[in-house]
Amino acid sequence: FDISGFQDDLVSWYKQNKRDLPWRENQDPYRVWVSEIMLQQTKVDTVIPYFYHFLEKFPTVYELAAADEQEVLKAWEGLGYYSRARNLQHAVREVVEQYDGEIPSTPEQLGSLKGVGPYTKGAILSIAFDQPEPAVDGNVMRVFSRVLKIEDDIAQARTKKQFEHYTRELISKEDPSSFNQAIMDLGATICTPKAPTCMLCPVNEYCRAFDAGIEEQLPVKSKA
Ligand code: ADE
Repeated sequence: FDISGFQDDLVSWYKQNKRDLPWRENQDPYRVWVSEIMLQQTKVDTVIPYFYHFLEKFPTVYELAAADEQEVLKAWEGLGYYSRARNLQHAVREVVEQYDGEIPSTPEQLGSLKGVGPYTKGAILSIAFDQPEPAVDGNVMRVFSRVLKIEDDIAQARTKKQFEHYTRELISKEDPSSFNQAIMDLGATICTPKAPTCMLCPVNEYCRAFDAGIEEQLPVKSKA
């Protein structure tokens, strides 16, 4: 497998075709964090207006830490899964108190903040801090299950661990931020669950499932 060819083609495609999203304006870790929490259970199009509003009301960790919880929940109204907002504020208060307002950039410290699970941790470390860390969710497992023709059941917890391992091997060490976001965009726009548009895919020449004509049979997922 030509890893550097795959990385180069994927990252160049991303740079030319990336979706214009408000949390991509800069690499401010606070903005990246807020966006990743909102995007956990909510679609991109729904998140966009909430993201703008939230950042206007709470532009940095300091405003969010100092706010009343009710105010934070009000800004979250309509997004649902309100524990996300409560945990985010709790974690931001920890950042202000324990880290002098600087969002930590080690996997251990970042991952110990409330509401920051493996996916969110990897997304923040790669997107905001340029670290080659995996951020594996359903989209990423779909893309890599096809590219690598992996037939393991993605509903199994141990399969996710394997994808984290593969991502560590494949991720660009030069531009992990673009690499991870490229996979997210590819999964959202081309390597879709149904009827993926492989003819438009920048990495179809590397894709073992496309080569075998079985892209729609992957990923394998047990239970509903
Ligand atoms: N889904 C989860 N994180 C995302 C991001 N940073 N950009 C686009 N879609 C996402």
